[in-house]
Amino acid sequence: MIGRFSLFPDQASSIAGQVDGLYFLLIVFSAVFSILIATAIVVFAVRFRRSRQRQLMPTSNGLLSLEIAWSVIPFLITLVFFGWGARLFITLHTPPDDALQVYVVGKQWMWKVQHAEGRREIDELHVPIGKPVKLIMTSEDVIHSFYVPAFRVKQDAVPGRYTSLWFEATKAGEYYLFCAEYCGSQHSRMIGRVVALEPAEYQTWLSSSPSSAGGGASMETAGKQLFEQLGCATCHQAAGGARGPSLTGLFNQPVKLTSGSTVVADEAYLRESILDPQSKVVEGYLPIMPTFKGQVSEEGLLQLIAYIKSLKPAQAPTEANQPAKTQAMLPGHEEQG
Ligand code: CUA
Repeated sequence: MIGRFSLFPDQASSIAGQVDGLYFLLIVFSAVFSILIATAIVVFAVRFRRSRQRQLMPTSNGLLSLEIAWSVIPFLITLVFFGWGARLFITLHTPPDDALQVYVVGKQWMWKVQHAEGRREIDELHVPIGKPVKLIMTSEDVIHSFYVPAFRVKQDAVPGRYTSLWFEATKAGEYYLFCAEYCGSQHSRMIGRVVALEPAEYQTWLSSSPSSAGGGASMETAGKQLFEQLGCATCHQAAGGARGPSLTGLFNQPVKLTSGSTVVADEAYLRESILDPQSKVVEGYLPIMPTFKGQVSEEGLLQLIAYIKSLKPAQAPTEANQPAKTQAMLPGHEEQG
């Protein structure tokens, strides 16, 4: 927790124990082999030192069985590290589907956080314990890195694209949040805290009036307002068939492009289509959409994306949203972090 010195940070997330286990195993093996090798060097240096009685040692061409042993045993040991590390890596890059989504924008020199429900915070992140939380991150300027030692997670926030990170806090408390990528003169002061709360307390916090933090409307609502302000609905109507494709039920679905290829409509695709609409044009449509680069902030983009994510096809499909329905029936795709 914050303010207490300890050699190792708290283990406050579901994977912290696994990460530490692997780390300790590496330390133990490194220590054992270092001592073994150092001892062997000293012993052999003394035992076989040059002396008057023994000027020349008989040469040896080695022992095949010994050579095989010292090749195969270390290989098997490193395979254990590889297997364990790979499993952790995959776990860390596969957020559960039911994860709570929180949007993070890094800038020199602060972390700006938006919760889907509308609460915003700066250099602080409130999360419930016992529930997976997925952060969707980007940066306004340079590369920053979101690092929570107590959760054993770290991920760069990169300008111009989305990265993601997930964790499940297991212990209520306050933990350090560091920027772990040198990002300018105030980098060392880009420190915040993560507050892990009991689920009930988290709900109270979420609904309490966001006095200094600002905001209020949910990201979806803010995105809808922006959508209307920018006139997106002029072309992108729910029914489709207009000048632009329908956005209903689009998120995480495959999209056929004029180039003949198919992409999955994840956060990165939506972002690119807003800022650089000509790069991937949907099949059957003309490249007539203007760019919105410079008109929407990073946070605005995240709000627009949150709104587009919320556009689900109606429960009982009518003739009007038939195209959206057929798309929504295709299997879902997991976006890459
Ligand atoms: Cu931001 Cu270092």
